[in-house]
Amino acid sequence: MEISQLVLCFFLLLLAFSLDAPHHCTDAAATTPPPFSFNFNFSNTYTYRLDDLRFEGTAAVHGATVDLTCDVAQCTTGRMSYGRPVPLWDRTTNEVASFATEFAFKIITPNDKARGDGMAFFLSSYPSHVPPKPSGQNFGLIAGDGENAGSFDRFIAVEFDTYDDTFERPKQIGDHIGIDVSSVADSINTTSLNFSRNGAMKASITFDNVTRMLVATVQFTEPPGSRSAAPVQVSAKLGDPRALLPPEVTVGFSTANGGTFQLDQILSWSFSSTLASPHPVIKGNHKKKGMAGKLAIVGALIFVLLVWSILSWWKWGSSRRDIDKRTGGVRQFKYNELAAATNRFSSENRLIGAGPFGEVYKGFLREMGRHVAIKKISKESRSEGSNRDFYDEVKIISSAKNKNLVELVGWCMKRRWNIFDFICWCREKANTIFLVYEFVDNSNLRVHLHEKEAVLPWTTRYKIVKDICAALVYLHHERCPFVLHRNIKPNNILLDREFNAKLADFGLSRSADKVGKARYLDPECRKTGKFKRSSDVYSFGIVLLEIACKKDENSYAKVWRWYIEKSVMQAADDRLRGEFDERQMERVIVLGLWCSQPNIDMRPTMQQAMDFLESDGPLPELAEPETSSRNEMPSDEYFAPGTGGFEDGSF
Ligand SMILES: *[C@@H]1O[C@H](CO)[C@@H](O)[C@H](O)[C@H]1NC(C)=O
Ligand SMILES: *[C@@H]1O[C@H](CO)[C@@H](O)[C@H](O)[C@H]1NC(C)=O
Ligand SMILES: *[C@@H]1O[C@H](CO)[C@@H](O)[C@H](O)[C@H]1NC(C)=O
Ligand SMILES: *[C@@H]1O[C@H](CO)[C@@H](O)[C@H](O)[C@H]1NC(C)=O
Repeated sequence: MEISQLVLCFFLLLLAFSLDAPHHCTDAAATTPPPFSFNFNFSNTYTYRLDDLRFEGTAAVHGATVDLTCDVAQCTTGRMSYGRPVPLWDRTTNEVASFATEFAFKIITPNDKARGDGMAFFLSSYPSHVPPKPSGQNFGLIAGDGENAGSFDRFIAVEFDTYDDTFERPKQIGDHIGIDVSSVADSINTTSLNFSRNGAMKASITFDNVTRMLVATVQFTEPPGSRSAAPVQVSAKLGDPRALLPPEVTVGFSTANGGTFQLDQILSWSFSSTLASPHPVIKGNHKKKGMAGKLAIVGALIFVLLVWSILSWWKWGSSRRDIDKRTGGVRQFKYNELAAATNRFSSENRLIGAGPFGEVYKGFLREMGRHVAIKKISKESRSEGSNRDFYDEVKIISSAKNKNLVELVGWCMKRRWNIFDFICWCREKANTIFLVYEFVDNSNLRVHLHEKEAVLPWTTRYKIVKDICAALVYLHHERCPFVLHRNIKPNNILLDREFNAKLADFGLSRSADKVGKARYLDPECRKTGKFKRSSDVYSFGIVLLEIACKKDENSYAKVWRWYIEKSVMQAADDRLRGEFDERQMERVIVLGLWCSQPNIDMRPTMQQAMDFLESDGPLPELAEPETSSRNEMPSDEYFAPGTGGFEDGSF
């Protein structure tokens, strides 16, 4: 919870910042908004959209610059202009704009002997059109070439001429800047400027609507040291712009290379005018609005994502809390802890059993300093019941605490974590479940009865009987609601060093498809499919007979016959060589028969069974099962020991 709160705070802060940032930007820009302006810095893609600009010919954005020409091709023409009409004068008020533009640019002339022709800043009618058959000598502003040149469009231009075209303009020698009106052959005024430095330049061009002076200033800004180079200026008084150009014009850069080539690059460009555009679309700082819109969308998206993540986080946390509640708070282990405890579930030295539920591993939990038995229940062996059922079972098992029940130390659910489950809140999938039990270190009853050479003495056997009985009385009568074991058999009766018996594996069956071993399974239950407390009683009875009686062919029927013939002591396990308390032996055998009667109504409850064991009361009068129900009696093999190992998946 604390973490989710932290995360929330962090994201709220982030959100506040992201909302605040564009706010500041607009404030700063809003000091003196000119009626019409734009400002692009091509090294920063956020300052322009390609829609704002019109590219013609070879002109294109290349990285952080707009290359008007390409520096390897001859006879190319390139233009970049502002994509919308720019107001020059107002038809209704007759007001003429004063305007100013600044741009950073480079003219790169790889070969001083054979350079391209230079470039021009221009104003002409809107929209921009490259004239047919443009030529390098006229910056792509005029159709045709040389003597064939024909004016195509009226324009005002400032040229940056790199071509020594003395043939065209005998008065001019070398590089220069000049001011042109609708003709490049007769510049109104020119000033020499040597472009061979190949460095970046800054140009500023202003037009004053009252004096009608057009002033262009150019200065090299690089390479360093060129700063000392004085700015070069050219100026000219123009005629009435209203007589020359339409009210709305194109502004931009035009260039053309002839038989030689050079690279003309624009790095940044700003323009402002005192006349507002009649088109609201270009009014004000629409770019910033576009930016703000983008930011808002991105912000909203991030916000939604954050909210979703926080909800997922919270949901995850709450499902965890829910699990804790459902499982009664018993410890939930991390898979890695269990893997470490079992030497990565080593099948060589840690696997101690395998069966229908899955495998059982012995592990050592370093942190708790104790050995545990870890039962792995694979997904395949679990019935369709949801995890919720499993949590309920964990709660039942962990809350059943009795010295004759194996204690549940914790559990673990191994999930294949995946981002989609997190996002769509599908947190109820689990692959493998682990139950961590106390480790009971002296094997189980089946091993001691049937596998060990040493005969289990009667006093121990009798104590085991009473221990199991006590455990079942606890499950059936002291728990509310009562708990069914469902799988009582010698394998599940674990023994510690003092031969205290502990029942294992109870309460799990709802999660597992396989029920107890047929031999110990109530035939009534097999018929109806319903497991009741009397079914546990039946299994208990069969186990009692297995503890007390001799291994013999046909035993169940024989024991009954001996009982009817009132010589039940003949059934006593002969390996004990008569070393037993006769009263106890008789009671155990009779109780075994009583509990395992096919008719469930005749069986005692566990409480009655306990009372019977502990009292000196009269023996019950049992009627031998009818022949018809003989078929439902345990098969004769019931005394036969299991085939070794832990074939039932218990400890
Ligand atoms: C354009 O941006 C670059 C880097 O962002 C900066 O160095 C340069 O000064 C900017 N140019 C103008 C004219 O603002
Ligand atoms: C020149 O521009 C100013 C605004 O800057 C305007 O008030 C004035 O009327 C304009 N003059 C002419 C002659 O258009
Ligand atoms: C222009 O400058 C280059 C080197 O910067 C120089 O070699 C060349 O002579 C100059 N041209 C003129 C006409 O001054
Ligand atoms: C040409 O431009 C220069 C530099 O601005 C200026 O001093 C000169 O007067 C201009 N000549 C004419 C004829 O306008």
